[in-house]
Amino acid sequence: MNPRRTQEPETVFETAAFDRSATPPRVRKGSAHPLRAPGYARPVPQPVNVWEYEQLAEEKLDENAHAYFAGGAGDEVTMRDNLAAFERRKLRPRVLVDVQSVTTATTVLGTEIGLPILIAPLAMQRMAHPDGELATARAAAAARTIMCLSTAATTRPEEVSAAVPGAARWFQVYVFGDRSKTEELIAEAVENDFSALVLTVDAPYLGRRERDIRIDFKIPEHLTVVGDIFSAKFDAGFSWRDLEWLAGYGLPVIVKGILTAEDAELAFAHGAAAIVVSNHGGRQLDGVQASLDALEEVVAAVDGRAEVLLDGGVRRGTDVLKALALGARAVLIGRAMLWGLAVDGEQGVTRVLELLRKEVELGLALLGCASPADVTRAHVT
Ligand SMILES: Cc1cc2nc3c(=O)[nH]c(=O)nc-3n(C[C@H](O)[C@H](O)[C@H](O)COP(=O)(O)O)c2cc1C
Repeated sequence: MNPRRTQEPETVFETAAFDRSATPPRVRKGSAHPLRAPGYARPVPQPVNVWEYEQLAEEKLDENAHAYFAGGAGDEVTMRDNLAAFERRKLRPRVLVDVQSVTTATTVLGTEIGLPILIAPLAMQRMAHPDGELATARAAAAARTIMCLSTAATTRPEEVSAAVPGAARWFQVYVFGDRSKTEELIAEAVENDFSALVLTVDAPYLGRRERDIRIDFKIPEHLTVVGDIFSAKFDAGFSWRDLEWLAGYGLPVIVKGILTAEDAELAFAHGAAAIVVSNHGGRQLDGVQASLDALEEVVAAVDGRAEVLLDGGVRRGTDVLKALALGARAVLIGRAMLWGLAVDGEQGVTRVLELLRKEVELGLALLGCASPADVTRAHVT
């Protein structure tokens, strides 16, 4: 019997789900996690973890959308390593700590959030579900966390703001060659109470994603991308000095896509309020380090002067704990959220956030920590 059944009474599995000799589900290369997926059959409606959302999303999405969402750059080495890096690190639990009362709440840039997990900027969410970014924004607000809206969203900043008035939200910036396009979007975000600008710095050009090339990826005709990253060119000349222009809007600037101590130092020197250690989910330069492997050197370079966040490969509450132990203030989730959105819109994102929140909560208790703030470097190898 699957022990999870007693813990999660609402979970419904086909009988075959418990038969380890059953035919394993069809797993496409690079989709559901190869180490975790085999051995149990396809779950029916209520997935119990992010991997199962991933499988269901793959079945639900058309091949065009799935290729775009699931793919990485080149050989996808970095994309896979983002996952593997979490497996290489082991937790070091402390026992006989009073954990009768555990909270997952923390703060990021002074904003209180219900769990140390934010929503990463992800392009074209209406391609995953008709409600797109509105569903994500509502689920993020309900979970008391921050959603970062992408420049390449399929919903305007103004509409997102109207859907979740008062909820904390950030706006992700790609700087286009035609700067006026970018300025227009930032102005709309500022007017609509977005509280920080997240500048993505790992994409002077889009990475070469071979799944997209192979399938001849097309934006579905019924969708309009707010900042069209496919037809408009980025400003590949944008450099550190230009950060001051962005800071001129008066919002904290968070620099997303840092992987080295050197760049962390420069980001801080040029006024970054926070840094996101990220390799864009393995979609830009293939062959770079896993985000988790780059985290420690960035945290050491920043030396407490700014908050450091991480994204890339987070699929489990225990992944979040490992990132916290290595010095991240919180993490962002990209695909994990997206699979929930694809499967079940707002409900799916809500459920993914709640599954992860519960995993973090139980993980904290078993690690001997009463809150995210109690997790230290000594809690991971
Ligand atoms: C389908 C997809 C679209 C993305 N679009 C953007 C984007 O518009 N802007 C951005 O800064 N990052 C974008 N990213 C990168 C994410 O913000 C984040 O860095 C990444 O998804 C984290 O890895 P994970 O998917 O393993 O969680 C995108 C990632 C994916 C998978």
